[in-house]
Amino acid sequence: MAWGKQALKKGEEQPEKAVHSEKLLLVNNVERVFQAGGAPLKVLKGLNMELRPKQLVMLRGRSGSGKTTLLNCLGGLDTPTSGEIWFNGRQFSKMSDDQRTTVRRKEMGFIFQAFALMPLLSAWENVELSLRMAGTPRHLWKERTAHCLDLVGLGKRMHHRPFELSGGEQQRVAIAKAIAHKPILLLADEPTAELDSNMSAQIMSVFQNIIRTEDVTICMTTHDPTIMEVADHVYEMVDGRFI
Ligand SMILES: Nc1ncnc2c1ncn2[C@@H]1O[C@H](COP(=O)(O)OP(=O)(O)OP(=O)(O)O)[C@@H](O)[C@H]1O
Ligand SMILES: [Mg+2]
Repeated sequence: MAWGKQALKKGEEQPEKAVHSEKLLLVNNVERVFQAGGAPLKVLKGLNMELRPKQLVMLRGRSGSGKTTLLNCLGGLDTPTSGEIWFNGRQFSKMSDDQRTTVRRKEMGFIFQAFALMPLLSAWENVELSLRMAGTPRHLWKERTAHCLDLVGLGKRMHHRPFELSGGEQQRVAIAKAIAHKPILLLADEPTAELDSNMSAQIMSVFQNIIRTEDVTICMTTHDPTIMEVADHVYEMVDGRFI
């Protein structure tokens, strides 16, 4: 098996137990300062947080409060100016860019506000593409793709292309795509922002279902107070700080 998680847990006798007993992600006094024009702009001002296995955690805050900046740091797409981020027992800042990229490809999944699907590929092909990118052996693609599309309730739409799907359905394909390679952390930046309240509720129930059945933690940003009740924890961000 070369699923991301198993591959990185090679050699451990009880990989499931090891995953569950740890903090999956630890943020220690993280700051991010941008050099925009003249004066430095401090966007993250000493953040501490933790994510545990199989949690649904939300980052809430007004526009400009720093949610996307933090999510980018959590996903290794950006690097804090100071402070530490530990992911699955390893410190991000001590890794090379290549190592970070490998961790991101194998152990993380990303969902963005605008669904990031390949427009000419069907739902099925979109999900398969992410297995190909993660290096999952080809003989496993068919079963895993079918499973993920079923999990998000799109078993009957798997051969539609994005333009033949509703916004909510497209976002569900994006979720199937993001979890296909069995990441242990799924980061989602305002995954419901473009959806009406009914579709947002559907996405949240898909997230809950994924957490129940897969070994994944979801960390998402949102403006929407109505969906926060399903969170295990909500971090409220104001001007680069948690309150
Ligand atoms: N690369 C950058 N260079 C300079 N400033 C930046 C950069 N990225 C973000 N910022 C600034 O950091 C602040 C926080 O931005 P961020 O995108 O994290 O906010 P957000 O909470 O995600 O907002 P929204 O809800 O609108 O998505 C903003 O004032 C933004 O202008
Ligand atoms: Mg944002």
